[in-house]
Amino acid sequence: MKEAQLIQKTIDFVKAALQDAEGGHDWFHIERVFNTSNLLLMHEEGNPTVVQLAALLHDIADPKFHGGDESIGPKTAKSFLESLSVDEETIDHVVNIIKHMSFKNSFGKTGESFTSKELQIVQDADRLDAIGAIGIARAFNYGGFKNRELHNPDVPPNLNMGKEEYKNSNAPTINHFYEKLLLLKDKMNTATGKKLAEERHQFMMDYLDQFYKEWNGSE
Ligand code: ADP
Ligand code: NI
Repeated sequence: MKEAQLIQKTIDFVKAALQDAEGGHDWFHIERVFNTSNLLLMHEEGNPTVVQLAALLHDIADPKFHGGDESIGPKTAKSFLESLSVDEETIDHVVNIIKHMSFKNSFGKTGESFTSKELQIVQDADRLDAIGAIGIARAFNYGGFKNRELHNPDVPPNLNMGKEEYKNSNAPTINHFYEKLLLLKDKMNTATGKKLAEERHQFMMDYLDQFYKEWNGSE
């Protein structure tokens, strides 16, 4: 199958699969990660087919909505790519990226690590979508969905929460900036990703300044 046709078929598949997805991980999140991955590819070395397929398929089955089962996404991607007779090496690489992107710190359950330039590019693109103007919108969207306060000066950010504790915490959305979003720029893998992250990070800092100014009724 021709490259362009393979990507188009994957786009159609992912769009259909994410029809009822929640706002933070809908088709448009995938489209942004796909576009940002392509932007990173203009400056970073990487196999475009692997990067594009992984970007499109990386959130195909969020474990949060599948009883915590982290194997469903990689399995779904694998059988889809097999149905299009994609070569085995490409399938293995894409599946490895999806597996390791959903695990924090790129370590699997067994502790084995995997990394590649292609993983780094897609992970950067995914992280870039969590910061900047879009990141702010996604955070407040998530907080609204969970019925959380915007901000509460009496509830300071807590940087020492475990993963479970974090998920169950009902902290105000502003705390999420300090607990996660402002830390992402230092986690970028690629030089281009770092550069884009700097700009989006600064935008969040400016946003917070303005937020507190308005919160406090100061000029
Ligand atoms: P990922 O799938 O990239 O690991 P998550 O599912 O944790 O991301 O989050 C999806 C979106 O929701 C992100 O933009 C993230 O910043 C936002 N989000 C996650 N947890 C919170 C939270 N506690 N408060 C506000 N926004 C959150
Ligand atoms: Ni994602």
